[in-house]
Amino acid sequence: MSADRIVKIGLIGAGERGAGVMVGSYLKIKGWQLTALCDKYEPRVKKAFDRIGDSAIRCYTDHARMLKEADIEAVVIAVEPENNVALVCDALAAGKHVMCDVPLTFTLEDCWKAIVAVERSGGLKFQMGEQMRYAPWIQAWKKMNQEGTLGKILFVEGQYFHGIGDGAYWLDAETGQSLTNAQAANNPRARKSRLWTLEHPIWYLPHELSPILNVLDDRVETVSCMATRKHSYHFEWFDHSDVEVALMHTEKDTLLRLATGFIVPNITPCHWYHIMGTKGRVETNRYENEPMKMWLAGSYLRNPAALNWEFDPTTTPKEALTSGHGGVDYWAMATFLESIREDKKPAMDIYQAVEAAAPAIMAGRSAESGGQVLNVPDFRPNAKRQPGKMPVK
Ligand SMILES: NC(=O)c1ccc[n+]([C@@H]2O[C@H](COP(=O)([O-])OP(=O)(O)OC[C@H]3O[C@@H](n4cnc5c(N)ncnc54)[C@H](O)[C@@H]3O)[C@@H](O)[C@H]2O)c1
Repeated sequence: MSADRIVKIGLIGAGERGAGVMVGSYLKIKGWQLTALCDKYEPRVKKAFDRIGDSAIRCYTDHARMLKEADIEAVVIAVEPENNVALVCDALAAGKHVMCDVPLTFTLEDCWKAIVAVERSGGLKFQMGEQMRYAPWIQAWKKMNQEGTLGKILFVEGQYFHGIGDGAYWLDAETGQSLTNAQAANNPRARKSRLWTLEHPIWYLPHELSPILNVLDDRVETVSCMATRKHSYHFEWFDHSDVEVALMHTEKDTLLRLATGFIVPNITPCHWYHIMGTKGRVETNRYENEPMKMWLAGSYLRNPAALNWEFDPTTTPKEALTSGHGGVDYWAMATFLESIREDKKPAMDIYQAVEAAAPAIMAGRSAESGGQVLNVPDFRPNAKRQPGKMPVK
């Protein structure tokens, strides 16, 4: 298999993310071709087709037909998280490599289904398309951790607060246009967007946990979580908690304190991270125009050093630097292509995907019971579970 051949790919899910990341970031990457496009929602297929502007692309509203007929070696899936795993399994069963956007799923059952499907696929690549794990500070901190610069990492904090305004909760079923809550009232064409199935904000934690686990090279073992009331204080008509906060303990004995919320207005940056080790601390900025910080024990620093970790513009591809989410969107797709062409392990494989998803799912469960401490299963094959087999209950 030639390492520089063109990889033909189909997109399933032409919503805001699917179409947006294609046009904004992925199509600028060399070495692949988008040959097929699918959304069960026809106006969205048409809109994405027009936006991409390549008349050779085949359009579908039925993913099974696309998997059967289209000239594709791989698929990129960007649908609602609760629909991801069924499509992942169908694509693998059809012999296609898969990259799936984040979060993988909202159920543990799906975690197992996805793992077993990948294990049974005979070496097809599964890449989780979580991109914050490629952020320059995450890469720098991973290297610092590998070199022992921070000593033993004891405590990590993270938060992902993204104030999603009125206008993202309803869609017009015919046109695909977004509607405000007032516009949706008494509108027979109004249908709920994916935000309604995000029953716990903490279920979106994989976007925050994936980079942290990338730095730590670790997995979460136990989880406890608490939530504000199951009814937003900001949008009176929305029956979800505004904020959920989880405490987690990892296999390597690190404590994590992680918070998520997607309703209450907030300013960028949406993500924030802080790491404390026995030899020092690092932290990203909570607000724009503030620096990131680092303090090392024994360094004669009375105050933390203000600095910014950034991609090196002289060595980083231009299409990476200009890609979405501040230059990180490029990496999930670029490393997926690399794994296919060079037959390498994907940068975020199925085990890493469920190790980011399952603690979030368990945290949601814990919040429902007022903070009960729950154990996260070990998803890797072991003496009790052979690859390709479901766990024995
Ligand atoms: N990585 C990131 O930064 C990032 C950013 C935004 C969204 N996302 C993720 O991307 C995914 C999509 O988000 P979005 O905002 O575009 O959602 P969306 O609801 O706007 O779009 C999802 C689309 O998937 C389509 N779909 C669902 N099931 C399908 C099927 N079986 N066949 C064909 N099409 C199907 C729907 O019709 C819809 O058009 C979500 O999982 C979300 O969590 C990730």
